[in-house]
Amino acid sequence: MEISCFSIFFVLLLVHCFMASSAVAVRTNITTDKSALLALKSHINDPNKILASNWSTSTSVCNWVGIKCGAKHLRVTSLNLSHMGLSGTIAPQIGNLTFLFNLSFRNNNFHGSLPNELASLRRLEVVSFGLNNFSGMLPSWLGFLPKLQVLYAYTNSFEGSIPESIGNLSSLKVLHLSENNLSGVIPQSLGNCTSLEIIHLDDNNFTGEIPLEIGALQNLTEVTLANNSLADHIPDAIFNSSKIEVISLYMNQLSGHLPPSIGNWLPNLKVLYLWGNELEGIIPSSISNASMLVELELGANYFSGSIPNTLGNLRHLERLNLVNNYLTSNSSTLELSFLSLLTNCVNLTSIVVAGNPLNGTLPISIGNFSTSLEEFEAFDCNIKGIIPREIGNLSNLMTLHLENNELVGPIPSTVGGMRNLQGLYLQHNRLKRSIPKGICQLRNLDELFLNHNKLFGPIPTCWGSLSKLQKLYLNSNKLTSIPSSFWSLIEILQINLSSNSLSGYLPLDVGKLEHVTQMDLSWNKLSGDIHAIRGLCSLVSLSLAHNKFQGPIPQSFGKLISMEHLDLSDNNFSAEIPKSLMKLKCLKYFNVSFNRLQGEIPYGGAIAQFSASSFMGNQALCGPPQLKVPPCETSNVGQSTTTIIERYILPAMIATILALFLICALLRRQKRDTKHNGQGDLLALATWRRITYLELEQATDGFRESNLVGKGSFGSVYKGMLSDGTSIAVKVFNLNIEGGFKSFKAECDILCSIRHRNLVKIISSCSRIDFKALVLEYMPKGSLKKWLYSHNHFLDMIERLHMMIDVASSLEYLHHGCPLPVVHCDLKPSNILLNKDMVAHVSDFGISKFLGNEESITQTMTLATIGYMAPEYGSQGTISTRGDVYSYGILLLETFTRKSPTDEMFTEEMSLKDWRHLKRGQT
Ligand SMILES: *[C@@H]1O[C@H](CO)[C@@H](O)[C@H](O)[C@H]1NC(C)=O
Ligand SMILES: *[C@@H]1O[C@H](CO)[C@@H](O)[C@H](O)[C@H]1NC(C)=O
Ligand SMILES: *[C@@H]1O[C@H](CO)[C@@H](O)[C@H](O)[C@H]1NC(C)=O
Ligand SMILES: *[C@@H]1O[C@H](CO)[C@@H](O)[C@H](O)[C@H]1NC(C)=O
Ligand SMILES: *[C@@H]1O[C@H](CO)[C@@H](O)[C@H](O)[C@H]1NC(C)=O
Ligand SMILES: *[C@@H]1O[C@H](CO)[C@@H](O)[C@H](O)[C@H]1NC(C)=O
Ligand SMILES: *[C@@H]1O[C@H](CO)[C@@H](O)[C@H](O)[C@H]1NC(C)=O
Repeated sequence: MEISCFSIFFVLLLVHCFMASSAVAVRTNITTDKSALLALKSHINDPNKILASNWSTSTSVCNWVGIKCGAKHLRVTSLNLSHMGLSGTIAPQIGNLTFLFNLSFRNNNFHGSLPNELASLRRLEVVSFGLNNFSGMLPSWLGFLPKLQVLYAYTNSFEGSIPESIGNLSSLKVLHLSENNLSGVIPQSLGNCTSLEIIHLDDNNFTGEIPLEIGALQNLTEVTLANNSLADHIPDAIFNSSKIEVISLYMNQLSGHLPPSIGNWLPNLKVLYLWGNELEGIIPSSISNASMLVELELGANYFSGSIPNTLGNLRHLERLNLVNNYLTSNSSTLELSFLSLLTNCVNLTSIVVAGNPLNGTLPISIGNFSTSLEEFEAFDCNIKGIIPREIGNLSNLMTLHLENNELVGPIPSTVGGMRNLQGLYLQHNRLKRSIPKGICQLRNLDELFLNHNKLFGPIPTCWGSLSKLQKLYLNSNKLTSIPSSFWSLIEILQINLSSNSLSGYLPLDVGKLEHVTQMDLSWNKLSGDIHAIRGLCSLVSLSLAHNKFQGPIPQSFGKLISMEHLDLSDNNFSAEIPKSLMKLKCLKYFNVSFNRLQGEIPYGGAIAQFSASSFMGNQALCGPPQLKVPPCETSNVGQSTTTIIERYILPAMIATILALFLICALLRRQKRDTKHNGQGDLLALATWRRITYLELEQATDGFRESNLVGKGSFGSVYKGMLSDGTSIAVKVFNLNIEGGFKSFKAECDILCSIRHRNLVKIISSCSRIDFKALVLEYMPKGSLKKWLYSHNHFLDMIERLHMMIDVASSLEYLHHGCPLPVVHCDLKPSNILLNKDMVAHVSDFGISKFLGNEESITQTMTLATIGYMAPEYGSQGTISTRGDVYSYGILLLETFTRKSPTDEMFTEEMSLKDWRHLKRGQT
């Protein structure tokens, strides 16, 4: 009975299946395609309204945007929705587009996993899911699409391992799965995909060995597996594929030696990146037989032995990076002979050999490098001897790093020949004599480090021509005087002249250095008063310690509101410590010890945090007992004195304060005016750390699409990694659109002048005429928006609360903690970024504003985001800190309710605010 029941059921099932399949076979036609596409459309959120009216039922499917049909059978053969700003999921009905051979969802914001119904698209040749938010496993049916040639799934959130079935794809040419969360070992079956030409698996969590089988693929031209956790040896066979052009395996844990014949079988290799691994042994001289090599980067490994002289045979070489290994130079001569031979490589732009015990001298032939050389880095190399005069021939060099070596002799007078030099780093050597005048010809120099040498004599009088200088370190030498032209370096940000033998006064011209943030003149013999410094309102750190300065500490120091570190110790300062110093809110270090100060210590504000050692050695100071000074005699002030104070001193003081206040207000206004009108080039401030365009290009793999993490009206954001391993986000501004340059400048101005743990930190900026970019701290966890709305992310209430506290504290800082209040103007979930510890950081200051003295300013040029924008801003363009508070309120509601203020449910009558009231009413 049971059995017969079961068999009847089984038969029914078969019949049903048969009917169903025959029905499909019969019925699929262009109408099937149409209904499949309409189903797809109904699952899509289309904010740019690209499909909305175009995919209309009244027109032929074949005329729809993104659709192509076959010429004969009139069925949909190509569905290409790339780069349309779409989101949503992929409807399973797509599996009915059985004639499809080209399917692309590239560069949208689709989420969810890939529906299994796609397995029936047996004609597929090109599939692209790249640059979306897809998640889940890579389905194993991908391996059963018999004609598949190209599979792009890069920059998504796919996880799990690559299905073993991939090995069935005998036609597969391109496999691009970079930037996902894929893990496990790379399947050996890939070796069965004998048509493979390109494999990109970078930026995942793959472990284990690189399968030997990959090396055997005869058609391979590119294999990039960088930034995974691959270990063990690199299969020798990878270095024996005659077609290969790119091998990129950097940032893994690969170990072992390079095969001795490495270059003999690589006739087409152009790029070899093996840096950041655990490779050891020598660099085989056969590498020079890979004669097409353009970029060779083997830094940060354990390579030893000598740098092969044969590198000079690589005629196409442009970049050589061997940083941080144990490499030496050919021991037969003291000269670094490999450098002489490299002069044959006429296209070389960058040589980085720093951090190797080279132990030799710089050859004279260094002057024979071609004019293409832009970067030469050989710091920490035990380089001995002198700097050859011929170095002046390198007329296109932009960066010269020779610091931390054992160089002796003078800085050659020919140095001025390096006309394009932007950074010159010769610190920590034993260079002698005076600084040559030739240095004044380096008009593009923005960083000059000559500290910790034995240079003596005056600083050359021509110094004023170094007008682009931003960082100047001449400390720990034996320099004797500062020329007056020195103080015309108006772009300068950091000056260190400490520990020299400088004497003389500070002229009033010092006040022209209005951007300077750090100034250290300590341990010299400077004298006179320091009134000239009072106008340097950007100062964050000032040390004048151990000099012979005298006179009072200017009252106006209270205006140096950014000051964090103020050291005036061991001078001859006299009179009282001005009370205005209590206004320096940011002070973290304060020292006026060993002077001749007297009177009451203004022990309030930030000064109250310092102890006796900040004030010791001043005989006539008085104040609270914990400062180990006698108490001030205020108690026995007689009645008559009080009246004197009331009658005369108090009014005078009030008048003075009022006057000061007015002056301050005027100065502030003036400063703001120059900022707004005169191009007051604050861009300069951004260069905390110099990063060249080349470095950015390298860090982002040539601004490769796979490194694109975001796109907006302003331009694009790429993620990248600097050669020292710092993860960065590079925000490249689109200068072709109106306001592109403005938003770069706005963001730069603001980010450069503020710092807070909940604000995205700026690392550098890169500004060329045709290229403007900001280099920011990389936030690996993405935006709050992603965490709120994408399906594979979840935030619990406590996490949300913490984030909202983070945002609030950054707002508090922006509005009240900065020298000038900053209004963000565009607070919303997509501008809140999360670091790896889920700490929220406010970003995107492209339309932010500094607030002046007035409460608000009227501004009509830029518009914030609908839904978050305060009503008065929206209607009148009034900007105020209150507008940010409004946006914060909306953000708060959204974060806890997961309802966006632009959600469809909020019609014109109901806003997110009202919805919350409603909900509360119901419960
Ligand atoms: C849809 O877009 C395509 C391609 O842009 C265009 O040729 C077609 O005319 C549009 N159809 C409608 C109905 O707008
Ligand atoms: C899809 O269309 C874009 C432009 O709209 C084009 O650049 C891209 O090559 C197309 N992709 C495919 C796979 O056809
Ligand atoms: C298309 O696909 C859906 C779901 O995958 C299915 O329900 C439907 O019957 C299929 N056939 C047609 C002709 O739409
Ligand atoms: C790969 O090829 C080998 C040998 O031809 C075969 O044994 C193996 O099953 C294949 N693997 C796959 C996944 O196709
Ligand atoms: C490299 O390949 C060639 C032929 O393709 C072969 O003769 C040679 O032995 C191989 N070398 C190594 C080291 O595998
Ligand atoms: C480069 O290749 C040639 C010919 O294949 C060989 O004779 C020579 O020894 C190789 N050079 C090195 C340094 O291995
Ligand atoms: C530099 O190049 C010139 C011209 O090619 C040559 O005469 C000279 O010997 C070279 N100098 C050195 C030191 O190699």
